[in-house]
Amino acid sequence: MSRAGKQVEWSGAEMISSEMMGRLAEALLSSSPSAIFFTVAALAAGVVAAYLYAPAWGLRRLPGPAAYPLIGHLPLLSKHGPEVFSILAERYGPIYRFQMGRQPLVVVASPELCREVGIKKFKSIGNRSIPSPVRCSTIHRKGLFFTKGSRWQSMRSVLTSIYQPSHLASLIPDIQPYIKRAGGLLRHGEEITFSDLSLKLFTDTIGQVAFGVDFGLTKDKDAAAATVPPSSASSSSPPQAHPPAAAADFIQEHFYATTQLKMDLSGSLSIILGMLVPLLQEPARRLLLCVPGSADRRMEDTNMALRRMLDGIVAERTTQAESDRGKKNFLSVLLNAKESTEDLRKLLAPDYVSALTYEHLLAGSATTSFTMSSLVYLVAAHPEVEQRLLREIDDFGHKDRVPSAEELHNSFPYLEQVLKETMRFFTVSPLIAREAGEDVEVGGYVLPKGTWLWMAPGVLAKDPKQFPDPHVFRPERFDPESEECKKRHPYAFIPFGLGPRVCIGQKFSVQQLKLVAIHLYRHYIFRHSSKMETPLEFQFSIVVNFTHGVKLQVIERNI
Ligand code: HEM
Repeated sequence: MSRAGKQVEWSGAEMISSEMMGRLAEALLSSSPSAIFFTVAALAAGVVAAYLYAPAWGLRRLPGPAAYPLIGHLPLLSKHGPEVFSILAERYGPIYRFQMGRQPLVVVASPELCREVGIKKFKSIGNRSIPSPVRCSTIHRKGLFFTKGSRWQSMRSVLTSIYQPSHLASLIPDIQPYIKRAGGLLRHGEEITFSDLSLKLFTDTIGQVAFGVDFGLTKDKDAAAATVPPSSASSSSPPQAHPPAAAADFIQEHFYATTQLKMDLSGSLSIILGMLVPLLQEPARRLLLCVPGSADRRMEDTNMALRRMLDGIVAERTTQAESDRGKKNFLSVLLNAKESTEDLRKLLAPDYVSALTYEHLLAGSATTSFTMSSLVYLVAAHPEVEQRLLREIDDFGHKDRVPSAEELHNSFPYLEQVLKETMRFFTVSPLIAREAGEDVEVGGYVLPKGTWLWMAPGVLAKDPKQFPDPHVFRPERFDPESEECKKRHPYAFIPFGLGPRVCIGQKFSVQQLKLVAIHLYRHYIFRHSSKMETPLEFQFSIVVNFTHGVKLQVIERNI
């Protein structure tokens, strides 16, 4: 039976016609007080039920598990983590219904359907849905990620110039000193929480690339007291362009803000309400802001503090002459672009500049750091992969020779495979959100305007049809000459998304990840610490993270 065209037009308000209301009123007037009470209670329950179920009604023909009232499928997400989407795809097929509290999603879990959503139907599905944790936070909403329509298009085309290969190549000398500095913190035999160090390193590099600021998170404690030489691209020490105390405060607020964007039932009360009863999210948030110590108050304070600091940095840079700002960091490029035309001046109002710059930090640190930690964790458990990787890195040349962008691309084919296999094995962004801007047909179902469609790269990455033995870590499956790679669907591996809204930082993050891996493996190898849980545990906030971190022992190489 064809499922196309089976959309049902329905809204809670239409259910109760004016004729019915008239009869009801008549009946009520002639009834006893208890009958009136029960009728009103039943009516109220009906209205509540209509409010809760209305969004799911238009999608009821899609397959999917039965949902609990109010909380939908959130208990399944809590129980299985992001793995739940693979379990459900196996059971219900490549397109199914999932309910985040009251909000229904259509999960799309085949390469062909992802192509349909991300590329072919981009005109109808060009924006992202805004999840409950982000709804009340302007600092998160005004970046590229959540802006919509023509504003997104204009901002994206300005930002694209920043990610041109020549610009990325020019960043290598700025980034390398930070990598060297972080590597210098490692000591032979020491047990470390590698994921913490990794997050600090990528926050430091992004601080430099986004603001031209040294956050100093990977500064050796002893060295921190020493004077750092002033900014210079050719210097072997990272430049210093902002008072470290303010930077440290900023980062503390940033880490807090990032980890609080929970997608399950562990977020603040207003975020949870936003998932269950969106109507109540904003009033509840306002109420909770008056309660000292509440998670909402703490988040609001954090967001305000972040905004103040960002606005301060933006205002300070705005008043600087173009020549003093520097040309490379993201913020300066934005401010320089803003001064070039009247249209850009309007488009890049100060609050958008702050949000875009902050987004750079947000999008670039947690994702890249998770991927780096996953790579080191996986390589530590696969000696044959480690041997091959070390050989390739050692063969490149002397330890101090920093590869150029071209060499990173051409001279490290096995590292490229290890990186891709890492991202397949532990996908940091297992779901990619979109929202239908109009009624649209996907996979044979007509989905009403406003439907949340989430592509599932995490499910694709574990599909045995595309990746035989999906639970085996085997970088060679990404060898472009291998049969497995040649046979694979072109959209089976999409850790950075696809189509016009694909990750804008993709090449930048790959460049950084390769630079870090090369530097680390020239000096060290790693082994799992006995303090680390097996298997690794993950938590699902705006991206996936490690619950307890990746704990490793450092072994210095004697070469
Ligand atoms: C391993 C690292 C990273 C991963 C896995 C990753 C993944 C993603 C994914 C899956 C998307 C959604 C794409 C889509 O909707 O089709 C995205 C979007 C985005 N990413 Fe990344 N990302 C990474 C690093 C970065 C970095 C380093 C930056 C910036 C410095 C960045 C900035 C962005 C932005 C701004 C968007 C929104 C693009 C738009 O809507 O036009 N990402 N990323």
